[in-house]
Amino acid sequence: MKTNQAFTILSGISGPHIARIIIESVPNPSRLRLWHITCQLKRGVPVAKIIHNKWFYGLRFYTNKYTLDPRPDTETLVDVVLQDYAGVKKFTIADIGTGTGCIICAIVKNSGATGVAIDKSRRALCVARKNVKSLGLGDKISVQHGDFRNPQLLPKNYADVIVSNPPYIAYGDKRVNDGALHDPKIALFAKHNGLAAYEQIAQNAKNWLKDDGKIYLEIGIDMAESVKQIFNAAGWYFVKSVQDLGGITRVMVFQK
Ligand SMILES: C[S@@+](CC[C@H](N)C(=O)[O-])C[C@H]1O[C@@H](n2cnc3c(N)ncnc32)[C@H](O)[C@@H]1O
Repeated sequence: MKTNQAFTILSGISGPHIARIIIESVPNPSRLRLWHITCQLKRGVPVAKIIHNKWFYGLRFYTNKYTLDPRPDTETLVDVVLQDYAGVKKFTIADIGTGTGCIICAIVKNSGATGVAIDKSRRALCVARKNVKSLGLGDKISVQHGDFRNPQLLPKNYADVIVSNPPYIAYGDKRVNDGALHDPKIALFAKHNGLAAYEQIAQNAKNWLKDDGKIYLEIGIDMAESVKQIFNAAGWYFVKSVQDLGGITRVMVFQK
């Protein structure tokens, strides 16, 4: 089907802006493909899950049903690390729960960091590997299978910086928007009111961090106090918290 015909049909469903984004990724779609896309849009499937692409920190990431689509809020975490390590020529980073690899790729692309991207989901790791390769970072980032509940996940004193945006939504939380329901559950939900991943990371991550290293965590709305308590109880020192562009405390930083 001609691009302008497809654009008109898609515009009628989702407006010209979204239609343009889709057409850029799928020019001249067949009738069947266009029908499939319109059905997905009507069902509320996020555009990123339809075109399998999402922009994050100025970089394009492949995404699919096995990965969380990178979120603009997470760019705050990248910003904080890049500001703190501006001018540092070399440092080692570990991204725990890497998903598409968006956090570590954005940091490595814009700094002297090298490191490791880890996820428990092997299917997510295929996506991370694809992104690391397409961004030309294969010699700087290794992609590894692993579970943050394992204290031996990484060698002792491995990293200068640990970053993580772990699953933090409480089971049954009604605030989850419809779009997020197309992300994998393993990327979204955690036990103990959404705090289980922080508890496990607080217990184990000191092993993986150098003495002067820091951990940077994304947190959900209203989690700052609970996460601070969890990390303090596990012997970490609070460094700072940072708000996202919406004024929500989104990033917490701790050191050993
Ligand atoms: C909220 S997503 C974050 C993805 C990506 N870092 C981002 O910010 O877009 C959480 C990720 O943690 C992974 N994950 C969940 N439980 C895990 C575990 N026990 N060990 C390692 N990774 C885990 C999920 O597969 C998912 O990719």
